[in-house]
Amino acid sequence: MKSGLERIDMGNRFGSAGVQQVYSDVEAYYGAQVAKHGATPRGVDWSCQATQSLRFVQLLRICDFAAPFALNDVGCGYGALCAFLDLRYPDSRVDYLGVDLSRAMISRARRRFRRADRRFSIGKASPRLADYSVASGVMNVNVGYSRAAWEDFIAAVLQDMRRTSRRGFSVNFMSDANGASEASGNLPETRLYRTNPERWIPYCEDALGCSVETLENYGMKEFTLLLRCRQNLAEDLPLRH
Ligand SMILES: C[S@@+](CC[C@H](N)C(=O)[O-])C[C@H]1O[C@@H](n2cnc3c(N)ncnc32)[C@H](O)[C@@H]1O
Repeated sequence: MKSGLERIDMGNRFGSAGVQQVYSDVEAYYGAQVAKHGATPRGVDWSCQATQSLRFVQLLRICDFAAPFALNDVGCGYGALCAFLDLRYPDSRVDYLGVDLSRAMISRARRRFRRADRRFSIGKASPRLADYSVASGVMNVNVGYSRAAWEDFIAAVLQDMRRTSRRGFSVNFMSDANGASEASGNLPETRLYRTNPERWIPYCEDALGCSVETLENYGMKEFTLLLRCRQNLAEDLPLRH
């Protein structure tokens, strides 16, 4: 690893409003989606439950279900992953924490899942260290910033996930490869962030100290990165609350 997790200075790229404005623009965007469509796949900008679940299948490949574990779900929306875990892994012991910028999402999630091992928190990063973290769809909708600024935002999300994951984490991206695509909601292409694995693999290996496995060809114009932590950064990097 080159230099540990140096904080990215995002101030310049985001202009005078700063990065807080990005978070509040993201929150406003998703808050409007869930207000319009409710706690449904469309309310988190997915076209249907089948593709939402297919993403969970890929992301959860980072987890070893043979033993109990703690899981952070970053950008959890209304908590659809909880229902998926119950359905697909009914006997597993997962201590789940969902985190989302959107208060509207979290209040829906809390209403839906009332269990001691299903908790939710409003924010941009998990307040706790877990064995694994997943993030589905968090990078897709650029709410109006330059590509460079949006990539700084993505790097910050990845850093936060690395910092709060003991064993590994996983994220998905929309692919820029040619082919049919399930666009996110009805957004114009210009607002969707598309990329390729090569853009992010060196960053995850060198800056975040992870080994990377890429999952592609699972029937969608997307890819998933499984990031396994090569060293424990927890002692060096206190959690931010
Ligand atoms: C496309 S939705 C997906 C929701 C959920 N992961 C699912 O698949 O059903 C993305 C969610 O991530 C949240 N989000 C985006 N950026 C975030 C960040 N940096 N920290 C926490 N939540 C974020 C949004 O508010 C939104 O609810």
